Parts: sequence; structure tokens; C-alpha cells
Amino acid sequence: MKVLVLYYSQTGQLKEIADNCISPLLKDKSVEVDFVKIETEHQFPFPWTRLTFFNAFPESVYGTPFKLKPIEVDQSKNYDLIILAYTVWYLNPSIPISSLLQHEDAKRIFKGKKVVTLLGSRNMWVLAQEKVKQHLKRLEADLIGNIVLIDSNKNLVSIITIIRWMFYGKKNPFWGFPRAGIIQEDIESSARFGEILLKRLKANELTDMQQELNNLGAVDINPSLVILEKRATKLFGMYAGFLSKKGDFFNKKRLGRVSLLSYLLPIGAFILSPITTISSFLISVIKRKELTAEIRYYQQNSLRE
Ligand SMILES: Cc1cc2nc3c(=O)[nH]c(=O)nc-3n(C[C@H](O)[C@H](O)[C@H](O)COP(=O)(O)O)c2cc1C
Repeated sequence: MKVLVLYYSQTGQLKEIADNCISPLLKDKSVEVDFVKIETEHQFPFPWTRLTFFNAFPESVYGTPFKLKPIEVDQSKNYDLIILAYTVWYLNPSIPISSLLQHEDAKRIFKGKKVVTLLGSRNMWVLAQEKVKQHLKRLEADLIGNIVLIDSNKNLVSIITIIRWMFYGKKNPFWGFPRAGIIQEDIESSARFGEILLKRLKANELTDMQQELNNLGAVDINPSLVILEKRATKLFGMYAGFLSKKGDFFNKKRLGRVSLLSYLLPIGAFILSPITTISSFLISVIKRKELTAEIRYYQQNSLRE
């Protein structure tokens, strides 16, 4: 049995998640696993600077494809399963993965294939997954499972720790704040999902396995974060337009507006988050039924018509 893991991981966190999650497959002699890293020709720096980090905003939001280095997928191999491991940038699939899904080779790679998505992000990913689902549908792939690992610390806490990590490369705990990123224990225990993948591969039962994955906590969703994400995504569209008016990613003329965003966005997040915590509680009481249905939808792999 052949499995292809397509991934982009900047700091290595997502790669570590993929390694742990599919460790049962790696240990099994009957499964051959190929990892293919997706890379843009333009190297996004790590650690980021304030301007480079926020300059990636419009293209992430719009899903503007970047030029990719050659995608090293062996065409002669007929993969039984593709694991698409991706992170989220500004509520969208990261630029390298979004570029892959729009690449001319994508149809050849994905058409008719069973796909499991594996996400490692801070905590806001549901709308990014909607975009990925649309791409996979267009590419005629068959999404049979989704596994999501997030930073389970409080939203404001993880904003602070991730900013420090992204801008200074420091992940360690400090001043009472926890270590940045996804908790190590969560990364290591993700092997339980790999067990399901292995079982399904061996039984030749590569059909929708979401319920089985969900029974082990593959997709836990915090309702207040969904409300916050939906609000933020509307603002993001406006900001992206405001920045893009001054030029594309490589145009220095837009850096003034990028700088403005670099202050507005964190301030907005800090003001919005407490307000949303209160309002989302009220919404969850008033619109309990609707919200429950919405969350149930995000926990499955179907796509709204
Ligand atoms: C430019 C940028 C924007 C990000 N935006 C989000 C986001 O909107 N939602 C989220 O949950 N995580 C966000 N993250 C965190 C990433 O999804 C990811 O967890 C982190 O970058 C580590 O991934 P790595 O394995 O590529 O290093 C962002 C990261 C970067 C670099």
C-alpha cells in the first residue's frame, strides 16, 4: 500500500505532527510512505519580521498562487491515500498549500484519490478547511477524513506566545506563559489517528472515516472561536483589498499600509476577543440549535451546495 504525504511546514511543527500521526503507518512494513515537501520559490523567512509577516496577508486571504519549486511526486506510483498536511495563514490554507491546490500538476496528483487532511494551526481553521474542500472537489479528489491539532491554550494567551515564536523564534515558556504552539502531548498522542488510517488501509476500507476519527477527538470545535473567525474573515477581506490597492506582494509601495495593519490586527484581536467571548456566549444561548448544526457541519467532510 502506498501513501503520499504532501506538506508544508515552516518551523517543523506540522512535520512533527505528521510524523507522529502516521507513525503506525511508518512502522508497518506493508505500507510505503513518501513525504513530499511543498515549497514556494520565494522563501518566507523564519523568524519573520513584522513587515514580512503582515505582507503575506493579502495573498493568503485571496489565495493568490505563488510559483512552486518542482513538486517531487513520483508519477509512476499509484497512491492509495494522500495525506494533505497543512497549516493556516490568516484563516486560509498557507500560501504554499494554496499554490499547490491551484498548480497545473494538482489535477494529476489528486484526481480520483482518497485524501485525508491533517491540520496543525493555532486555533482558527474551519474556514480554511472549507476552501481546501472546494479545491479538492474541483480536483475530483475524495476527502475521507480530517484531523485537526490546535493550540489548546486560551485564545489571547496563544496570540501572545505565537507572536513571540514567529517574530523571535522563541518557543519556550516565559513570564508564566506556556510554551508556544501545540502541546507536545497532543502531538504525540495523534498516533491514535494513524492507527485508524492503518486499519482502514489494511482492510481496504478507504471510505469516509470522519465519525471514527471524531470519536477519538479528531475535530474539536470551540463555538466562540467559530463566531470570532467568521467575524474576522469579513474584516480580513476588507483589509486585504486596502493593502492590495497599493500593489502586489513584491511591491514596496504597499509597506506603509502593511505597517498600519501590523498594529491594527493585534489591537483588533485583543479588543474583539473579550467582546466576542461575551457575545458568543449570548449567541450560543439564543441560537443554540443553529450553532450546534453549524459545528456539526464543520466536523464532517461534506461541502455546502
Ligand atoms: C503568516 C501566518 C499566519 C497565521 N495565521 C493563522 C490563522 O489564521 N489561524 C491559525 O489557527 N493559525 C495561524 N497561524 C499559525 C500556523 O497555522 C501554524 O500553526 C504555525 O505557523 C506553525 O506551523 P509550521 O509547521 O508551518 O511551522 C499563522 C502562521 C503564520 C506564519
